[in-house]
Amino acid sequence: MTAQLNPRGDVAVLVPAAGSGVRLGPGGPKALRPLDGEPLLVHAVRRIAAAPSVRLIVVAAPPDGLDAVRAMLDPVAPVRVVPGGAHRQESVAGALAAVPRDLGIVLVHDAARALTPPELVESVAAAVRGGCPAVIPVLPVVDTIKEVGPHDLVRGTVDRAALRSVQTPQGFRHDVLAKAHAAASDPLTDDAGLVEKAGIPVTCVPGSELAMKITRPLDLILAEALLRVAARVR
Ligand code: CTP
Ligand code: MG
Repeated sequence: MTAQLNPRGDVAVLVPAAGSGVRLGPGGPKALRPLDGEPLLVHAVRRIAAAPSVRLIVVAAPPDGLDAVRAMLDPVAPVRVVPGGAHRQESVAGALAAVPRDLGIVLVHDAARALTPPELVESVAAAVRGGCPAVIPVLPVVDTIKEVGPHDLVRGTVDRAALRSVQTPQGFRHDVLAKAHAAASDPLTDDAGLVEKAGIPVTCVPGSELAMKITRPLDLILAEALLRVAARVR
């Protein structure tokens, strides 16, 4: 069934989905590869569309696959599809340009985090609505982290207590994200990094294990298992 977005919602979600998925191995753009019979992007958009505050979803798709992406998302939810760029940051900037000014909150969410629950979309949006200019969902780091120098020699051990793994969706006041992108020079892997560079405070909220990024082949296997567990829980 096609989801309806909330016409009174105050949130736009940008979905960068134009990456090639090199680390997943051969097989076409990652966002279009199947997980349990459906493209990752379909899983991601279905969950975003189920978040009650969302009024607009903009997908940055592989430029040569725009029509295919529109066709696959048509039965899922109403979305705008724009061509992605050579780097993630360019894909986000292209999607951001399609968001009307009156939408006060903009979230940026990787298609590769296909199983992110709608509740996380809502909690990030709620923190921005509550007054935080920039919000990131995070998890504690479980491994011991070492800094390593030349010749594989350990330089030191980083204090794990102060570290967090960062997920998406990352949420921003619309004007804050627009200014950060306008000022961006080097491509970064996340949008909060641009906002940090501008000296704006970034607030952490609890992330979700379901928001894992599907990056390597093992992640696809883990995601399929998570999908089965989630189906049993519901
Ligand atoms: N992305 C994008 N445009 C790009 C590069 C990445 O929209 N030029 C998107 C990806 O589609 C993904 C998200 O950014 O949803 C996070 O990137 P990543 O996990 O690195 O995906 P890929 O770039 O596809 O994977 P890889 O780096 O292994 O090639
Ligand atoms: Mg990448």
